Amino acid sequence: KGKSKAVWVCSSCGNSNGQWWGSCPSCKMAGTMKRFSVGEAESTDGGAKVSGIKVSENIARTWLGQSSTDAGVPIRLSDVNRAISPTDWRIPLSGLFGAEVGRVLGGGVVPGSLILVGGDPGVGKSTLMLQIAAIMAEGHNTGGPAPVLYVSGEESIEQVGNRADRMKIGTTELFLYSSTDIEDMLAKAQPLSPRALVVDSIQTVYLQGVTGSAGSITQVKECTAALLRFAKKTNIPILLAGHVTKSGDIAGPRALEHIVDVVLYMEGDKSSSHRLLRSVKNRFGTTDELGVFEMSQSGLQAVFNPSEIFMSEEQSDSEFLVGLAVAVVMDGSRAFLIEIQALCVSGSFTRQLNGVHGSKAEMIAAVLMKQAGIKLQQDALFINVLSGAKVSETAGDLAVAAAICSSHLEYPIPKGVAFIGEVGLAGELRTVPRMEKRVNTLVKLGYKKCIVPASDVKFLSTLDLGELQIVGCKNLKDMINKVF
Ligand code: TYD
Ligand code: MG
Repeated sequence: KGKSKAVWVCSSCGNSNGQWWGSCPSCKMAGTMKRFSVGEAESTDGGAKVSGIKVSENIARTWLGQSSTDAGVPIRLSDVNRAISPTDWRIPLSGLFGAEVGRVLGGGVVPGSLILVGGDPGVGKSTLMLQIAAIMAEGHNTGGPAPVLYVSGEESIEQVGNRADRMKIGTTELFLYSSTDIEDMLAKAQPLSPRALVVDSIQTVYLQGVTGSAGSITQVKECTAALLRFAKKTNIPILLAGHVTKSGDIAGPRALEHIVDVVLYMEGDKSSSHRLLRSVKNRFGTTDELGVFEMSQSGLQAVFNPSEIFMSEEQSDSEFLVGLAVAVVMDGSRAFLIEIQALCVSGSFTRQLNGVHGSKAEMIAAVLMKQAGIKLQQDALFINVLSGAKVSETAGDLAVAAAICSSHLEYPIPKGVAFIGEVGLAGELRTVPRMEKRVNTLVKLGYKKCIVPASDVKFLSTLDLGELQIVGCKNLKDMINKVF
């Protein structure tokens, strides 16, 4: 019932449009425009229902910017730097966990900033934010305890309280509140004047007077904008959780990345206890930082020697590694590692490919035969990219070739070795974009060796890469000689 209007929203950049486009007019990605209906009777997902505009005398209104009388006046340049708090001042986070989070944030929490913590459901966003809230409330190196407000729209106060007990959070300055109404929570936050505000999560909150149920695209955008205005006006930093689903849920953080100041993504495999925290966007710092944590009963613990992650697995499944090679691929501005598995079986000629484009795999196999003397003519070849990832970038070519060689030669590639590079028809290795970012990710994760095109060695040797050894190769033959 009720009128509903269709909008098309790009799942890559969040740009919305009144009509469908084959490729997004804003970011030019193809096939990303998805249809959404924005209407008055949007309540199918069982979220909080929103009635028409309620006349509210709540002062919160002014922060929400809907009846703001604060038009602002131009400020003389010479007064600006005094009027605005310097953005290089940050609230430091104490302790080992705090230091690791602080590093990802570029040194700490900038007052008045809106920080989005995105990640799959269950990855540990609420735990992370509760820990940050507790550290900020304790304020060990920020002049002692001060209130921090943790608002949950997902869990009851008791649930959050129990979790805090399990995590042995003992501060008296952490305030818990359960609400899904943005106006209500901001009105409660103001008199408390907290050092920071945590909102869990953007999908559960709503703004009165905005159509759509909580979690709908308009609600998500309007609520985020309201929180941003609140943060800027009060100078209170806000941490906001957002679910991302693998399918690129549009009401999820993708659409919000443009609004907020900082975007952190939390990642980790369901089967692993390690969690990565990555800054994807940071108005106040670099986005190359990567934090590594280990989950525990009492919350997340910083991992200071990430190479241990790989060392521990090394003994147990060393045989497994025949035919397995690691590639570094980019997803937007994020570099991440994928594992490519290949299996060559002599006898029957078949091809089974999963996660690699057929023509690409054929080309790499052909180049290996012709240019590197690997006899795959009689082999059945299976390629699989683990955990459902896809290699769509040419940067993954070298790892695909290495995985095939490893299986064919029955020679394992040691753990802690990664491959980056494009393979040309003559077997030559070509450089790929964002080499520095890819290599830095390997350094952070404690990798020991990275095989790259020879032409990149000179540039990479100027960087501080810690223990990571860079091995340049001119072509596939060269790579085989150096690795196998
Ligand atoms: P949670 O923080 O609720 O994830 P999200 O908010 O992203 O959905 O964490 C999921 C579950 O994992 C929860 O039951 C708590 C548990 N957990 C730990 O026990 N220790 C940890 O260090 C983390 C991060 C989570
Ligand atoms: Mg949660």
